[in-house]
Amino acid sequence: MLNEEIRNSILELQKQYPQRRSALIPALHLAQMQEGYLPREIQDEVAALFNIDPNEVNAVVTFYDMFFEEPTGKHILHVCKNVSCMLRGGDGLLSRLCHKLRIAPGGTTEDEEFTVIASECLGACDRAPMMIVDDKVVGPVNPDDLDKILEEAKKGPGHPCPAELLGGSHG
Ligand code: FES
Repeated sequence: MLNEEIRNSILELQKQYPQRRSALIPALHLAQMQEGYLPREIQDEVAALFNIDPNEVNAVVTFYDMFFEEPTGKHILHVCKNVSCMLRGGDGLLSRLCHKLRIAPGGTTEDEEFTVIASECLGACDRAPMMIVDDKVVGPVNPDDLDKILEEAKKGPGHPCPAELLGGSHG
């Protein structure tokens, strides 16, 4: 269940838009702060706050790579698989990363440290092949540097989820 602070923040956010439903994406980011992902119950609560069909909320959540329906690892590694990155070795980068972490794209490591997402264009084609490590753009990535990148990521607080600030329980 959404905590009161997030619920109130969403209601406040809605007031900043001429049309309430335009606040849906930022509201989902807020809602995701609570647990680090968006279980169906929370999606339904958000839908109720917007007075829209829960399936509409679910369509948004499942469309965007930055929303998660299942718990994730502490660190999110987006690897771009779109054309510019692909032409510069993005596929190899993704498979090397997955092999190193012993997971498939979309998977989470056993220690729950990393989740790897194969993403569409992440808007930094000039840095191809690139990744977003938590909230940081990294690239061009040399696959030989993956160990260093993973070590660096481990030092950070994890993917953007200031749940601690909001009293949530992100793992
Ligand atoms: S194609 Fe990879 S960032 Fe655009």
